[in-house]
Amino acid sequence: DKGTYPYYMLKEIDEQPNVMRKLSAEYLDEAGHPKLDADLVDAIKGSDRIYIVGAGTSYHAGLVGKMQLEKLTGIPAEVHVASEFAYEDPLLSEKPFFIFLSQSGETADSRQVLVNVNKQKLPSLTITNVANSTLSRESTFTLLLQAGPEISVASTKAYTAQIALEAILAKAVGEAKENQAALDFDLKGQLAVVAQGMQSIVDEKNEINQIAEDYFVDANQAFYIGRGIDYTVSIEAALKLKEISYVHAEGFASGELKHGTIALIEPGTPVIGIITQAGTAGLTRSNLEETAARGAKTLSIVKKSLARPEDTFVIPDVDELLTPLLSVIPAQLLAYYTSLNKGLNVDLPRNLAKSVTVE
Ligand code: F6R
Repeated sequence: DKGTYPYYMLKEIDEQPNVMRKLSAEYLDEAGHPKLDADLVDAIKGSDRIYIVGAGTSYHAGLVGKMQLEKLTGIPAEVHVASEFAYEDPLLSEKPFFIFLSQSGETADSRQVLVNVNKQKLPSLTITNVANSTLSRESTFTLLLQAGPEISVASTKAYTAQIALEAILAKAVGEAKENQAALDFDLKGQLAVVAQGMQSIVDEKNEINQIAEDYFVDANQAFYIGRGIDYTVSIEAALKLKEISYVHAEGFASGELKHGTIALIEPGTPVIGIITQAGTAGLTRSNLEETAARGAKTLSIVKKSLARPEDTFVIPDVDELLTPLLSVIPAQLLAYYTSLNKGLNVDLPRNLAKSVTVE
């Protein structure tokens, strides 16, 4: 039931602070240590490479998970688009461990990879929102997102829940390996900061609605740019905008612009820089300025400690491995209000279904 909300998507965006609190309560103990199945933690600890598989938004959450897992466990991880990986006949490491990310647990592309994995009797984990879903039943282990049903076709709270749960998993395996970064990571404290930060962003709906009207409703194209973890959010942000507002949007690694893409910038093209990582903030800022010099209308989503007075959205400071949980929120709301202001059916965009059960 969407209650007083005009669309499920807005309700689901608003639920994200609570989903963060729920995941923290469910999977972290009083002292902040993960409470996960010891067999699952051991299986990942004993692997020499983690293969993360997903489609669409779940793939984008996997890109963040790779960074979290590598940083906190020291185990190399790679991320694959399910529909590609299923038919690649990949060269695997000696002791691979597979992680499937799927909100619905029913995505046929992801399942096809799992079928191959099971044929080879390799261990796997499904991270899903739906207990007893196909992927959950067929994989060795399951972790539930606990996000409550996600009805809107555009995925929002499942993306942030996947990222938070991947961080919990990475900390669990890292602690088991006595990795110092994992032991030092105050994930419980940081998830509380995230929940509060999400709330402060969703409370700014009116401003975000205005920006959607001013910049996006009449745009034929828009670009998100960023580096590293911010790049992964930029492709998720662009997907959200295109799928529900039909504005042609792309996310780019900001350093790649000058290698071709910048030719697309026209006077008035909105370009949004995502800037949350201290090491690359200056570089992305210059790339954003280069687009402004060619007529782009630039906007920015910037972490507080890196912010300047001219920035559009200033998001609270949080650990660099968790910034997507906050930087994606303005992008979700921009997509929502662009679609709404264009008079579209936000929850049921054309040509799309919530769960994609064909390959
Ligand atoms: C985008 C979106 C899709 C899904 C994708 C995978 O907003 O919802 O890209 O993320 O179809 O679905 P699941 O996670 O159910 O496997």
